[in-house]
Amino acid sequence: MYENRIEFDKMDFTQEPPVEEPQRQYYYIARARAYVKAESERLGRPLTCVVTTFGCQMNARDSEKLSGILRQIGYVETTEEEQADFVIFNTCTVRENANLRVYGRLGQLNRVKKKHPHMMIALCGCMMQEPEVVEKLQKSYRFVDLIFGTHNIYKFAELFVRRLESERMIIDIWKDTDKIVEDLPVERKYPFKSGVNIMFGCNNFCSYCIVPYVRGRERSRNPQDIIREIEHLVADGVVEVMLLGQNVNSYGKTLDEPMSFAALLQEIEKIEGLERIRFMTSHPKDLSDELIDVMARSKKICRHLHLPVQSGSTRILGKMNRRYTKEQYLQLVKRLRDAVPDISLTTDIIVGFPGETEEDFLETMDVVEQVRYDSAFTFQYSKRTGTPAATMENQVPQDVVTDRFDRLLTRVQEISAQTCSRFEHTIQNVLVETVNDHDSSLVTGRMDNNLLVHFPGNESLIGKIVPVKLTECKGFYYIGECV
Ligand code: 5AD
Ligand code: SF4
Repeated sequence: MYENRIEFDKMDFTQEPPVEEPQRQYYYIARARAYVKAESERLGRPLTCVVTTFGCQMNARDSEKLSGILRQIGYVETTEEEQADFVIFNTCTVRENANLRVYGRLGQLNRVKKKHPHMMIALCGCMMQEPEVVEKLQKSYRFVDLIFGTHNIYKFAELFVRRLESERMIIDIWKDTDKIVEDLPVERKYPFKSGVNIMFGCNNFCSYCIVPYVRGRERSRNPQDIIREIEHLVADGVVEVMLLGQNVNSYGKTLDEPMSFAALLQEIEKIEGLERIRFMTSHPKDLSDELIDVMARSKKICRHLHLPVQSGSTRILGKMNRRYTKEQYLQLVKRLRDAVPDISLTTDIIVGFPGETEEDFLETMDVVEQVRYDSAFTFQYSKRTGTPAATMENQVPQDVVTDRFDRLLTRVQEISAQTCSRFEHTIQNVLVETVNDHDSSLVTGRMDNNLLVHFPGNESLIGKIVPVKLTECKGFYYIGECV
């Protein structure tokens, strides 16, 4: 575990860089740090950076790693993108909209860079794993300084130095990797909660999804490394962890000594001082009875499960390569609710998958009616080049997709307003996260099902888990009072 103990200023980087990781990156951090120090002395001010994250929690965690390295290099984080000396976009490509947003933001940055030519711009993350994207950037976005992908984030300091010493656009994209580099610096966004990667990549190949192509094959971290990381986080004030993986339910299958996700959870539960455990994302096909049992017995695992259904039609689920039927999914929900009665369920749903008929769509509506999700993320199907679904026949016309999407969203929202209010007048434990933005006499925190609660309190409560009486449900959040 990286423990802020390395004295980068005393490191000798006149020698050849080490071959071993993470020592090699420590060497490059030291070298980058000398550059940044000299530049900041020349300017008479600290150098500033902004890390902008698009996409999911995996990306958010990757950004914390980038921030950690940037901080060690000597940058100070700012929110003023236009004034920053270094800007990095950590991109997502799960739907086409995500890509369009990045191009839009890049256009804006180009105008800023014309006024501040010293600004450095880096792009990384899932979108960079698509060859067409990199081609386009090389051709039409020459002002970008550094491009890297999802597999070599750990090499950020090394690539940064390469850019400083070459004056050319640096591009370093790997197709895949089996390497997991531990012990690099991380800068957490919150002092009291943290994401923890337990695995990387995905082997499921859902036919609409680009993730297996941009995040590579599934690989799990060693349980000892995960436990060690969480123990250090807890010693540093963390009370809640979110275990991250594209498909956490298949954790451990590829380890030299295979271990189930349920077994990992039981080990994590033993860590003293850790109060809450969350995880995402769960694939329904791999959710075991062992896991349900562990959840039911656990005192720390939050009573919340994000269980993407994607579609309610068994026929469409087959074409999506999801490997469960509508009935199997509903059965699973029943087993979960029997074991953990007040569990909150959330989901992802795609509307307009190729070949989806009105009947198929009504099957999805039926699942929504039966499960009554606490909340559902609804998406219009987006064609991703290179995935099997992109070349399927019967792509659904946009007006039909829009109509179905609107009907689904209306129903999903009505149901979640009803299900969310079921905790009204009960007492729930709330992890306090911030002083309320609008009213500083209130604090804002989260229940273990992730719903927000605002209640009277002050800064001293931040990071604490306190019992709160939920006096009023306001649709998707609660007003409460300390008990
Ligand atoms: N089109 C629309 N939604 C998609 N998702 C993944 N790929 C696509 C796509 N091509 C959605 C799924 C997934 C969530 C993260 O994004 O619902 O669970
Ligand atoms: Fe996350 Fe997938 Fe987007 Fe990558 S493409 S950031 S893994 S949602």
